[in-house]
Amino acid sequence: MLDIHCHILPGLDDGPQTMDEALAMLRIAEADGIRTIVATPHFAGRFGEPPPDLIRALVQRVNERAADEGLPVTVLAGCEAYLDLELPSKAEAGKLVTFGGERHYLLIEVPTEPIPLYALEVSFQLRVMGIQPILAHGERLAVTEAGLTFVRRFVEQGGLVQANADAIGGQVGRRMRRLCQQMVKDGLVHLIATDAHSPAYRPPILTVCLRGFPKPMRDTALGKYCSLEGIT
Ligand SMILES: [Fe+2]
Repeated sequence: MLDIHCHILPGLDDGPQTMDEALAMLRIAEADGIRTIVATPHFAGRFGEPPPDLIRALVQRVNERAADEGLPVTVLAGCEAYLDLELPSKAEAGKLVTFGGERHYLLIEVPTEPIPLYALEVSFQLRVMGIQPILAHGERLAVTEAGLTFVRRFVEQGGLVQANADAIGGQVGRRMRRLCQQMVKDGLVHLIATDAHSPAYRPPILTVCLRGFPKPMRDTALGKYCSLEGIT
């Protein structure tokens, strides 16, 4: 399985603070059946803008330590980019780490209250530049009528939406689970990811989402929502 949203790099943001903590997360992920993780440290917003070289160097170090421990998990470089008006110019300047090779997937975090009027325009600009935006934890936006409308338009525009595994599984409450289930039915969820931050706080476990799926869908849900074209 693939987890496209995980704060796994040590010392960069509100994810793990040490390499040991990052490795503990990798062990949890491995036990859950996750084999590929996209490291998505926050980019912009309160954690600053980690340079791509630093992100890639940390990814390499985590992978080396994972190999030392015999953990069959590969970490790829990415980021969770906070959407603001400057995002396209930052992408143009090579400041953002996309993943999926030529597909240039970019996980974006859209502010919720209020959703900026320019959010759709910015995501459209990214697509024109050849970047495929993936909306992080879309369910958080969809809790309001305006947010749900935004998510629908974002998808109509060709954007992909990621939902958090724990929200689908019901760990954030029944209301959120029902909302996620409706989004899945309506085709507003394309990917499920953990958005893990530590071994304890929202750990990297994808299978918790299965509780949110009706039994007939459980066999296929992980294969369908925890994989992405262009990533092996
Ligand atoms: Fe995140």
